Amino acid sequence: MTYQTLLFDVRDGVAFVTINRPDKLNALNDQVMAELADAAGRIATEDGIRGAILTGAGPKAFVAGADIGDLARQGPFDGKARAQRGQAVLRLLETCGKPVIAAINGFALGGGCELAMACHIRIASDTAKFGQPEVKLGIAPGYGGTQRLPRLVGKGAALQLILTGEVIDAPEAYRIGLVNRVVPAGDLLAESENMLRGILAMGPLAVRLALEAVDRGLEMTLDEGLLLEANHFGLLAATQDTKEGLTAFLEKRPAKFQGR
Ligand code: COA
Repeated sequence: MTYQTLLFDVRDGVAFVTINRPDKLNALNDQVMAELADAAGRIATEDGIRGAILTGAGPKAFVAGADIGDLARQGPFDGKARAQRGQAVLRLLETCGKPVIAAINGFALGGGCELAMACHIRIASDTAKFGQPEVKLGIAPGYGGTQRLPRLVGKGAALQLILTGEVIDAPEAYRIGLVNRVVPAGDLLAESENMLRGILAMGPLAVRLALEAVDRGLEMTLDEGLLLEANHFGLLAATQDTKEGLTAFLEKRPAKFQGR
């Protein structure tokens, strides 16, 4: 697929995905969503890609939401279908099996905040702003906001954001646990890449199974989640990655994992 609204650049195993509609503050129209679905598929399946960084073009916005022009034209059935398509795209990204970091360079509102929440780690520039302002438009979050936000920040803080539509700054997003780190705007991409490359230096199978255990485990009972974790732990013991990681420690040398 040739992208018209995304920049997709792979450098040394990292896919840099930039949503590229800066004149519309990178709003998620149907084309962006279709291209994001394709990009998530590439991240999941291409061996040359080991992780991804998602950001927005221009200095102002990560993503200022779903495209309000599209929403204004929809009826109840295509509205539901659009929400389900969007949810599926974000879920593809969340379950791609490789670490994905959102580098949030400005407004992350509505669908933009939802997209960031589907990434595994969120790093915000100190100029970023967050919110689920859908209620101001008479709509409610449709790309997973009512589900992922309370899982990340707890029910009380999530309901405050969703019901008031208030927009919060990066330090407040950090305080409530919506983002993992806040960095100066000029350092955002370098810091995000630095963290991702740190993760990519770890045992890749361990990273993949840890992502899966956290993602699936959140929807399980504690006992089911613990069993999944123990199964992964046992499975990893049969891998070259674990053998190398443990042997390297005992031999007091850096581990050299396959694919590095
Ligand atoms: N969908 C479609 N277009 C959008 C958009 C969205 N979610 N957010 C911004 N844009 C467009 C604006 O319409 C404008 O386009 P135009 O120049 O053709 O008129 C352009 O992006 C720039 O936005 P503008 O509003 O002029 O910038 P601003 O700095 O004054 O305000 C925001 C920035 C983010 C506060 C404001 O754009 C906004 O409130 N956007 C909607 C946020 C929202 O409700 N998101 C949830 C949607 S479900």
